[in-house]
Order: sequence, then structure tokens, then C-alpha cells
Amino acid sequence: MATWVITGANRGLGLEFAKQLLDQGHTVVAGVRTPASMDLLHRNLTVLPLDVASTDSVQSFANEIKSITDSIDVLVNNAGIMDGRWQSLSEVDPELSLEVLNVNTIGPLRVAQALWPLLREASQAKVANISSLMGSIDDCMSGRSYAYRTSKSGLNMISKILSVEGKIDNISVTSYHPGWAMTDMGGKRAPVPVAQSVEGLIGLISKQNQNRSGRFFEYTGVELPW
Ligand SMILES: NC(=O)c1ccc[n+]([C@@H]2O[C@H](COP(=O)([O-])OP(=O)(O)OC[C@H]3O[C@@H](n4cnc5c(N)ncnc54)[C@H](OP(=O)(O)O)[C@@H]3O)[C@@H](O)[C@H]2O)c1
Repeated sequence: MATWVITGANRGLGLEFAKQLLDQGHTVVAGVRTPASMDLLHRNLTVLPLDVASTDSVQSFANEIKSITDSIDVLVNNAGIMDGRWQSLSEVDPELSLEVLNVNTIGPLRVAQALWPLLREASQAKVANISSLMGSIDDCMSGRSYAYRTSKSGLNMISKILSVEGKIDNISVTSYHPGWAMTDMGGKRAPVPVAQSVEGLIGLISKQNQNRSGRFFEYTGVELPW
């Protein structure tokens, strides 16, 4: 059984990750902005405060984890925010755009940086970055959503860069698209049930290795174009 760290684990895909992993017998560290909002209790679950947009918060999170474990097997960078709904150029809010980039792109990098020493202690650690097909430049047919799309393209590049650095430490780093899933972010019209998306993602992350590092997959296993 492995130790998984999940960011943004109090609702949506993150909460489902925690539930399914605990059911499978894994140990889970949940990083959440408001620990009181975490509606899950389990002997193998530790809930810690984490705001991925704050370097101080990420550092405190890493220090807390170091006090409870010597190594981490899997980091799932799941926390993320939208930029409104399909904003056009005239609707772009530069301040909100900076926040989206901070949370969705720099957030996962901050967390990976802070937890890297613990990942290095596992024999074949994995970083799974929850990206989006909306970050695929090849797939950008419908345009709009400037900040969110850019934040996920940036996250994909960070996956690629980290995958190169990770080779030295045998840490694999892969981007995933969870599908259009029925969460607060995905909305009620989303066709993919949360449990199905996360089941697919956990299966893919479980077989993540150096060969699959630096690549981009949908929850179904289909490889996606950058
Ligand atoms: N649902 C989809 O269709 C879909 C499609 C493609 C990609 N994704 C990606 O999948 C991931 C999870 O999305 P979701 O659908 O589960 O979204 P969600 O239901 O809106 O949940 C987002 C989670 O991220 C957390 N979060 C936001 N900002 C944070 C911060 N600064 N620090 C720590 N946690 C923060 C939220 O915590 P609070 O409760 O404190 O706000 C919440 O737990 C995101 O990265 C998203 O971009 C989702």
C-alpha cells in the first residue's frame, strides 16, 4: 500500500480520489484550504491545511507531512480553479487570470518543489498533474477561456520539464485529463460521473512509470496531443 498526497481533496475529483484510495487500503494525505470542510474521516487519512497559491502555506504543508512520514509515493496535483465561463477577449479579467495561473500552474510546481525530497525517498515515486484537454493547443478549436486554457498548457509544460528532471531521481511526472466530469467545476450537464473519472485516473497513475512520464493521457487511457 502506498502513501498518496492529494491537493484540493475536500470536494469534486479530489474527494473522490481520497475515498477510492482509502477503500483500496492506501494512506492519504489531503491538502485542503479549509480542513473543516473535509467531510471524511478515516484512520488512514490525514487532513492538512493547504493553499497552493501561497508559498508559505505550501512550505508549512510540506513540513507537516515530513513530521508524519519519511516518503511519499504519489502526489496528485488536483486543486484548480476556473476563470468564469468561456470568457471571450472582451471578458478577460487580468487579475483573475493571474490568480488562475498562480493556482493551476505555479501551484502544482510549488507543491512538487516542496515535496520533492519526500518523493525522492520512495523507490519509484509519481507526480500526477490533473490538467485538462482545454490546455491542449492542438485541440483548441472553440477558443475562449484564455486564462484557464493557458494555465493548463503551462501545467503540461511543467509536467514535461519535471519529467526530465525526474529521470535522475526515478520520479515519473504525467499530465491527465479527467474528462468533462460532474463536479462543481464541471457542472450538472457533464457526461462523466466523478467515480468513473477517478477510477480511470487511479488505474493510469498506478501504472505510471518512466516510459509514460512526460506524456498526456485522458482518464480513459487515450493519449492526448499537447
Ligand atoms: N470537472 C471537470 O470537468 C474537469 C475537466 C478538466 C479538468 N479538471 C481539473 O480537475 C481538477 C479538479 O477539478 P474539480 O472538477 O474537482 O473542481 P471543483 O469541484 O471545483 O474542486 C476544486 C478543488 O480545488 C480546490 N482548490 C481551489 N483552489 C485551491 C487552492 N488555492 N489551494 C488548495 N485547493 C484549492 C477546491 O477547494 P475549495 O473547496 O477550498 O475551493 C476544491 O477542493 C482541477 O484541476 C480542474 O481544473 C476538471
